[in-house]
Amino acid sequence: MAEVRLEHVYKTYRGGVEAVIDLNLTISDGEFLTLLGPSGCGKTSTLRMIVGLEDITKGQIVIGNRVVNKLGPNERNVALAFETYALYPPLRVYDNIAFCLRARGVPHGDIDRRVREVAAMLDITDILARKPAELGGGQKQRVSLARALVREPDVFLMDEPLSHLDAAQRAHMRSELKRLHARTGRTTVLVTHDQLEAVAMAERIAVMDLGVLQQVGAFDDIFNNPVNKFVAGFIGEPPMNFLPCTAASQGGDVVLRATDGSFSVKLPPELAHKVNGHSSDQIEIGIRPINILAAHQPNGNGAVEVEARVFTFEALGEEGQLAATVGDQQVLVVTPATERFERGDKVWLEMQTKRLHLFDAKTGLAL
Ligand SMILES: Nc1ncnc2c1ncn2[C@@H]1O[C@H](COP(=O)(O)OP(=O)(O)O)[C@@H](O)[C@H]1O
Ligand SMILES: [Mg+2]
Repeated sequence: MAEVRLEHVYKTYRGGVEAVIDLNLTISDGEFLTLLGPSGCGKTSTLRMIVGLEDITKGQIVIGNRVVNKLGPNERNVALAFETYALYPPLRVYDNIAFCLRARGVPHGDIDRRVREVAAMLDITDILARKPAELGGGQKQRVSLARALVREPDVFLMDEPLSHLDAAQRAHMRSELKRLHARTGRTTVLVTHDQLEAVAMAERIAVMDLGVLQQVGAFDDIFNNPVNKFVAGFIGEPPMNFLPCTAASQGGDVVLRATDGSFSVKLPPELAHKVNGHSSDQIEIGIRPINILAAHQPNGNGAVEVEARVFTFEALGEEGQLAATVGDQQVLVVTPATERFERGDKVWLEMQTKRLHLFDAKTGLAL
């Protein structure tokens, strides 16, 4: 087992693509971390540098107490399971799993014990005698995980390991992988572009965009306190609404006026002080669809609310989804099951001030 430390790690490919920029990240011994971000943000490059399949352009990677920059993949004791299965078609499942142990000259009896242990853990004992062509997608995925795990690595890396499974298999494998981690206690990094997957499995999530680590933390932390607009918009489904505004003081109060002129709202003191202390007056309001209350009447009472027009409404059983037009913009609201709205209705959207986020419109940073 081992801690993995990435210190000021850069990856620039030939041709100049900066896939990873100044990455600082420590994965504790025994931790399960997911690396989450959109396609092309540098997730695979990061894993390939940890496992040793890709040179590090700058910085260093420490596994356990060793700087591994110059060590080959075989000297690091890190296993990487790919999204593609890469099984050897002529070999039985058993031999596919045993392959790397035989190549390393592990004694026969030990090989058999380790293969059977891993097979039992992944529930594939009954298919050990089959060839890859006789397996379904979910089974192949398990065999490929077994092949990585049988090496008993210090660090276990998985690159989108559930991407080829259907929804039911994926849900099943998610809980299996979690159980597997609980049993082995192995330092694990799972890469995904799917936030549901990240939330379901990991203790901590590291969010990347454009080669840059944006935020690391438990899901609740990232969800409730996103450090910037990217993280705020990427985490959460349906995504956060953003409303560009210009801030002004009016008789001691802070008022945010929509850039398109469609509304102006007075901020309560706990939010006003953030805007007062800020250098720019170009601010974006961020509010999640579940944190807006849609009503047929204004609340008044100093609520932060804007007038809008219903564009579409769908009753979805346990909740409704309302898209309302505010000036040039559409705002999405999740409504209680009992509420009904008609296209064209006038509605007032009250934003829960405790859940209202403010961002600098230029830098995207949270205020
Ligand atoms: N071998 C390579 N040569 C040049 N550019 C690459 C190579 N591998 C990846 N890239 C580029 O680096 C960036 C990050 O890629 P990658 O790490 O695969 O992202 P992700 O796994 O998050 O989708 C992308 O812009 C990709 O096109
Ligand atoms: Mg990738």
